[in-house]
Amino acid sequence: MATTLADLIFIPAPVIGHIKSTIEIAKLLVNRDQRISITVLIINSPSGSRPASAMATYIQSLANNSMDRIRFTQLPQDQILPNRDPKAPMTFVNDFINSHCKYVRNVVADMMSQPGSGRLAGFVIDMLCTGMIDVANEFNVPTYVYFTSNAAYLGFQFYIQMICDDHNQDVIELSNSDGELQVPSFVNPVPVKVFPSGFDTKEGLDYVLLTSRKMREAKAIMVNTFLELETHAIGSLSSESNVPVVYPVGPIINLDGGAGENSENDVVSWLDDQPPSSVVFLCFGSLGNFEEVQVKEIAHALERTGHRFLWSLRRPPSPEQTSRAPGDYEDPGAVLPEGFLQRTAGIGKVIGWAPQVAVLAHEAIGGFVSHCGWNSVLESLWFGVPLATWPIYAEQQMNAFEMVVELGLAVEIKLDYKKDLFNPDSDIVTGEEIEKGIRQLMDDKEVRAKMKEIGRKSRATVKEGGSSYASVGRIIEDFISNISSS
Ligand SMILES: *[C@@H]1O[C@H](CO)[C@@H](O)[C@H](O)[C@H]1NC(C)=O
Ligand SMILES: *[C@@H]1O[C@H](CO)[C@@H](O)[C@H](O)[C@H]1NC(C)=O
Repeated sequence: MATTLADLIFIPAPVIGHIKSTIEIAKLLVNRDQRISITVLIINSPSGSRPASAMATYIQSLANNSMDRIRFTQLPQDQILPNRDPKAPMTFVNDFINSHCKYVRNVVADMMSQPGSGRLAGFVIDMLCTGMIDVANEFNVPTYVYFTSNAAYLGFQFYIQMICDDHNQDVIELSNSDGELQVPSFVNPVPVKVFPSGFDTKEGLDYVLLTSRKMREAKAIMVNTFLELETHAIGSLSSESNVPVVYPVGPIINLDGGAGENSENDVVSWLDDQPPSSVVFLCFGSLGNFEEVQVKEIAHALERTGHRFLWSLRRPPSPEQTSRAPGDYEDPGAVLPEGFLQRTAGIGKVIGWAPQVAVLAHEAIGGFVSHCGWNSVLESLWFGVPLATWPIYAEQQMNAFEMVVELGLAVEIKLDYKKDLFNPDSDIVTGEEIEKGIRQLMDDKEVRAKMKEIGRKSRATVKEGGSSYASVGRIIEDFISNISSS
């Protein structure tokens, strides 16, 4: 019997962490089932924003090396970008993404008209691309969301929208208070200070409401998490009647990590010379960077703890650059305290961009000071490396809260630090706070033991017999069901 090929259209948001995660689930799905083929439609960063060179190269390499049953198509972009008001960043994001709807429509219609094309089984969209649901509806196919963050945060978004729409609660007023909110996807009350930016403004909140309402229209939501990690949050989502079926399919991470570059070899060979579990790794994600005063506080803290360290130190983007992507210093010594590099030469290494997966996989690493981007959290879990939290932007404050307070898998440096489009001028985290957090990170035996245990579970859940493995099987049946019966 001839097998029907099920074509899926994937639309990730133009954010490097989201694209990478989306590619990984695409690979997983085609490897798991011969019937599936995937076309990934790439929305490029707004032109003129000088996307991080890493992102441009990455997209290029994807387009160059298409994989079996995964194709990449870069979408065109309008000549004239939507209006960009610095006070309304989310309106721009939404208008910019939606300006691609017409291109998506053309590409998909064209694809379907090719001889030998499979049957369109559905759209799989990013949480930032919910406007594409309307395009999927035009083709009369279901939309699935691939949620690149965690289930607790997904539940938070739905809950906020529900209390606004159904109970008329004033979330802006709440978000400007220093109170807390009991949210079903969390066991503990969630302090307002860990709400992501934007919930305290009409523009930001309107965007959350819009995306949450749209996400409820999806047929199902795949979440990059696993049942053993977020048992409570997943359970609470499943018990809600107006929420689509949630499939925990993670952890989905790219274990190939870096590209085996020279810088990676250099870092790994340095780690080879360090004792097991002795090194603190500091890395703040693709957008993470600090001003010089903050860099000095970190340096002082590291010196005082005396721990071995590997520090990915990035230079803030220059003011004339419209993109927020940091770069590497020619000479990091220029921003570090006088003599720091010489004094710590025997125990520490300061680098630029870090091959994070290769580093976390190394047995010399004993702890990870992280911005708590969800991909980074999952990578740390996978390798059983305890975390110290220093969230920066997006929903990272909530990720940090979940890891420290809900799950006991991390120690706190900060839960509520914020530096993003809404808060360009952040406070300084003092050397004392950093020092205390790092000491606790390296000494806390309980967190270390729990992290090892959850790491083991994270690797088991994606194998045959594991719960995420089973979830992936169910979502594939869901995809196929839409085209098999007609
Ligand atoms: C992709 O292909 C183009 C054209 O062949 C080439 O110039 C470019 O270097 C390639 N980029 C990557 C990242 O492989
Ligand atoms: C496929 O999905 C569309 C849109 O959600 C729906 O209208 C249609 O009934 C589904 N078909 C089958 C066979 O399930």
